[in-house]
Parts: sequence; C-alpha cells; structure tokens
Amino acid sequence: MSRRLLVTHALPYANGPLHLGHMLGYIQSDIWARAQRMAGNEVVYVCADDAHGTPIMLAAEKAGMTPEAFIEPIRAGHEADFAAFGVGFDHYHSTHSPENRELSALIYTRLRDGGYIARRDIQQLFDPEKQMFLPDRYIKGTCPVCGTPDQYGDNCENCGATYAPTELLDPYSVVSGATPVLKDSEHYFFELSKFESLLRDWFDGKLTGGRPVANAGVVAKLREWLDGGLKDWDISRDAPYFGFPIPDAPGKYFYVWLDAPVGYLASFKALCDKTGLVFDDFLAPGSQAEMHHFIGKDIINFHGLFWPAMLHGAQLRTPTALHVNGYLTVNGAKMSKSRGTFIQARTYIDAGLHPEYLRYYFATMLDDAPVDVDLDLKAFEERVNSHLVGKWVNIASRTAGFVHKFFDGHLAGQFGPEEQALWNALLEHYDGVARLYRDGDFAGVARRFVLMADLVNGHIAAKAPWTMAKDEARREELHQVCSFAIAAFRLLAGLLKPILPATVAAAETFLDAPIADFDDARAELHHHTLNAFEPLLGRVDAKRIEAMVEASKASLGAPVAEAPAKPPKETRKTMSDTAAPTQPAETDAPATIGIDDFARLDLRVGKVLACEFVDGSDKLLRFELDAGPLGTRQIFSGIRAAYGEPDKLVGRNVVFIANLAPRKMRFGLSEGMILSAGEGGADLFLLDADQGAQPGATVR
Ligand code: 2FM
Ligand code: ZN
Repeated sequence: MSRRLLVTHALPYANGPLHLGHMLGYIQSDIWARAQRMAGNEVVYVCADDAHGTPIMLAAEKAGMTPEAFIEPIRAGHEADFAAFGVGFDHYHSTHSPENRELSALIYTRLRDGGYIARRDIQQLFDPEKQMFLPDRYIKGTCPVCGTPDQYGDNCENCGATYAPTELLDPYSVVSGATPVLKDSEHYFFELSKFESLLRDWFDGKLTGGRPVANAGVVAKLREWLDGGLKDWDISRDAPYFGFPIPDAPGKYFYVWLDAPVGYLASFKALCDKTGLVFDDFLAPGSQAEMHHFIGKDIINFHGLFWPAMLHGAQLRTPTALHVNGYLTVNGAKMSKSRGTFIQARTYIDAGLHPEYLRYYFATMLDDAPVDVDLDLKAFEERVNSHLVGKWVNIASRTAGFVHKFFDGHLAGQFGPEEQALWNALLEHYDGVARLYRDGDFAGVARRFVLMADLVNGHIAAKAPWTMAKDEARREELHQVCSFAIAAFRLLAGLLKPILPATVAAAETFLDAPIADFDDARAELHHHTLNAFEPLLGRVDAKRIEAMVEASKASLGAPVAEAPAKPPKETRKTMSDTAAPTQPAETDAPATIGIDDFARLDLRVGKVLACEFVDGSDKLLRFELDAGPLGTRQIFSGIRAAYGEPDKLVGRNVVFIANLAPRKMRFGLSEGMILSAGEGGADLFLLDADQGAQPGATVR
C-alpha cells in the first residue's frame, strides 16, 4: 500500500555557504526520499534556512545590514547549491517567514495553555557596553584550571576542563571587549520532565506502530539522557535578538532552537498553501502519514527529546523516525582549510566535477547508523571510475553501437536461454533493493549494484559480442546478447536512479523508456527501439580534484558570516545559543612531542570508590578514587552528559593525571583529571585499565 511521507532535513544556518560536510547529509536524505518515491510512496520533502539567533544578528550588524537583508542572499546561495547537487526539495523556505511566526506562536500558546511553560528568574552574564546578554560562546577569558588565555565560556581547548562562564578569570565579552556583569532576567522554560512517559512510549515505538524511531544506538543514547533526568529547557532570549517575539512577553524572543524545527512545519505549510496538500492530513494527532526527520548526530537531543514533546504538548502528531548521519572527514582527517580539504559545495561544482560522482561515493559509504564518512579523494576517483564508468556505462557503450549498426536500434524479441537465466538471477538481486533503500543501507544497494554489474559484464566478456559481430552467421546471438545487456543496463539504471537522478534521466532518453518506479525497470524491453547512445558520464579527471583542493586552499577566507569561533561541542549539547556549522572545524595534526614531554605526565590508575552528581552543576560528576600509594583523590569530571548513572562507575579502574595542579572549584577541590575519549558532551567514553591493575599503578 502506498504510504504518505513528510520528509525533512535539518535546516542549514543562514550564516554562510554550504560545504561538502553539509552535502553528505542532504544527499543522504535526498536519496532516501527519491527511493521512497520509486517504491511507489507519496513523498513531500521540505527544508528551509535556519535564520534566527544571536550569531546571525551580530554578523548582519557587522556587515552593516539588517538581518533580513543579510539572510536573503545566503538562502539563495543554499538553494542554488542544493539544485546543483540534485537535492530536490519540494519546498525550500526560511524560518524567518510568516508561516513560521504563526506556527511557533501557535505551538507556544498551546504549550502555555497546557501548563507546560514555566517562568523563572535566572542570572546570566551581560555585556554592559553592548547592552545584551551573552551566550556562553560570546564570553572568553583565562582558563581557571591551566591559565590559558582566550578560552571559551564553558570549556578549555587547552586542558579540556569544563566550567561555568562565571568561573573564567578575566572574562571579557567577545562582542565589545567589556567585562561582563551578572544580571537577572526572567526566562521562559518548557517543562520537558512532564513528557517523560510520552517520550518513553515514543522511544519504545508505541506511537509508531512498533517501528523503531531511530537506529538502536541513537535510541539507547536518548534513553540514557532520559534516565539521567530531564531538565526544563530555556526557550526565551532577551532583546536584542533576531527571532520571533514571544506573543505574551514583551522584550522576550523565542530561542532559535524553538522555532527551528517548527520551520519544517512552516515549509510544509507554505507548500500546502500553494498546492492541494492538506496540512492536517500529515500533522494531526493519529495521522496515518509518516514524518521522517534527517539530522546530524550533534542535534539528536533537540529532535529526540524536545521536539516530540513539543509536538505532543501542542496537540500535533509525533515524528515517525529520526535518521541520523555522521560527520565528513576528507582524506582521513577533519576538513582542513590549510590542506585544502575544507571544500565548499560551490568549489566542487566550479572545479567541473560531476555532482553525481559525489552522490555515488557517499552512497557507497552510508548505512542506517550515524557513522562518520571519509571522503578519500583517491578512493573517490577510483571508485567512481571503476563502478559507474567501468561497470555500468560500459555495458551500454560496448553494446549499443552493435544494436544501432546491425539492428537499426531495435532490441530482440527474446533473450537466449543463458541470458534469460541470468536475467532471472538479476531480478532476484534487484528485488531486495527497495528494502535496502528503505532501511537507509545505501552501501548495501551499492554492493548489490556491483554484484549485478559484474554478472552482466562477466556474461558480455564471455560472449564477446565484438567477436560475434565479425561473423555474419552469429547475428541472432549477437542481437540477444546485446539486447540482454541493454535491458540489464536499464535494470541497473533503476537501481541507481535515487542516487544518480540526472545521469539516469539521460539514460532514460537513450533507452526511450522512462523509469518511473522500481518496477518499471524490470521490463525485458523486447522489440523496443533505442535512441542514439550519448556518453552518459565521463571518468573523474584527477586534475579537477587537484584544482578543487587548490581552490579550497586559496579561496577560503572567512565565510560570509561567522560567529566568534568554533563553539565547543559541549555548547551544542547544553542547548546554548549557537549557529556553528554542523561539522567539526579544522584541526591540523598536532606537532610531535618528545618522550620527555610524555614523561612529565604522571598518569595513574584510580579505582572508583564513589561517583555522584554534583548539586548545581549539569556537567560535572564527583569521583572519589583509590589511588593506591597516593591515597584517595577527589576529582570533578565534566562527563555527566555521557554517564547518567554515576553509581554504575563504582569499581572501575579509570586513568587520571595525578600531577595536575589541584584546582579549587566552587564545589570543592579537584585533584587531577580523569581521561576519556570523544568529542565532548554525551560523546565521551572513560578510558580504563583491565581489572587486575592496582590502584595507583603508573600508566606508561
Ligand atoms: O545544527 C544546525 O545546523 C541547525 N541549524 C539545525 C536546525 S534543524 C531544525 F531543527 F530546524
Ligand atoms: Zn585549561
């Protein structure tokens, strides 16, 4: 039965051009949406620019423009890039739109009337010169732990310590340079804890007919957050702010993350207003239509906790599924401006590289888990050349000429027995493809494509039509082999269509046989007449890749609008105001150190005697470690987001730096630092030593 799907992709900030890291996610959702259509479903695929927030407001001011004028050309640039890469939204909108203003106000009002909005005074750092409250990332100062100057409001890039912005030494406002002062302000909070049982039901698939709402790892992470306790979410910001005023609260604005996901609905609403689509058919509670959100792994909390709760609290349906993608690395490392691997979408296009090369390469790397994808430029070149040109286009280019030369472009009325048997085998492989797409396993689709193409090419090689063509007596055999090859080429075109829409459209013209859905491509094309064969896709030219890398080195100055600098990952996880790109920023490989440098660290094993939450801190856990000959150590560690059940850590052998200068915190003395791996926030994993290691043992 045909399903109705509303598919959305996380909205890019209107603060600069898109890069290939963005395109990874957008290509993924586009392929999925196209495949759903090919499977016979009705798909509405929408997106918008995410236009609000402090960074965009300040960037516009710096550019001497109104925010409205500032965001407009950026949106146009995004739309042009999406079109260039074949990302075919049905509607592209902006969160700064009348539809979004109206829907945000409606949702807020319903939440308020439902008793889910609380008001509380909070203290926040305020820039007395600029007369504005400062988000954490707009406050810098000297790290209270290691003394490194110019560190961010909540996290030191040098020593990794986490702290409140109020703990920074010599703090200053990034906006004006003034010393911030603490100031009271009334804020509006969304009471998330009232939705605990709703969220548990949603995680358990009880609202989605038993279907999982996300990949198992993502759901486990969401459960862990929920088990750690849900806190109210601060949804208001004080003027000056670029956003929507809260209807009943003069001087207060919705925090950008409140109206951003509403932007999905606003984009859809704008489309409904232009077409016959009915908003409520998709959004009313109990709607049989599905709502799928494609997002990056850094914004799971917004979409897996706040968003379903907001929707439910506002008497709208909850999402059907979250599809989460990872980050892009290039040549095995984070994208780097100096290495020329921080590549803007436009730079790729301008280098003359076919956008569908990239779509194919990404597809071969994606399954339904939020894995990071490496764009290895050599592998990219080789894979595209080998798979698309060598294995697929070649099937047609080696056989179409004979069909035209000897048979006037007509295909045979039947396959030979060998071809028929092979065709049946191909169909069996082909028939599983729609499911692989549905599960997001595009790498599985690509593997199947290679397997099928190898079978076809093996048959062509064995039959050698170029030899047959020399022999007048073998015309019928030649006709059957070539006709089979063309039908198989089309079957593979059906498989590839969600990934390569433009190239397959050109193939459809050559074949004179449109492929509207997966079933269409199963036809054997007997007695069919072909159009002239035009080369569909050339080989990747390595020189163009080089040119793209060089251009990326040369052209990458500051993006159109950048917030002060990369926010620590933690900032996003704690829902501060941020408009950073969703990619990790550049970090070049660190300089090497000598063994003496390493020896200066006194790394020890500590057995966890006690571990608990810290009152007044949403980031810290307090550890008590048995450090053997060094006695007992108390250490505060900023890993609360990753470990929601601290008592479970008791008994573990963690690794800590024993000779870090003790640090006086407002919760007590911290005597060392516990090591963990990961990006920060919920993505942190304690290092530990195997059982048997003695407390206090040196780590070398
Ligand atoms: O993280 C980001 O880039 C945000 N602009 C995504 C917003 S997604 C949605 F909620 F609007
Ligand atoms: Zn530090």
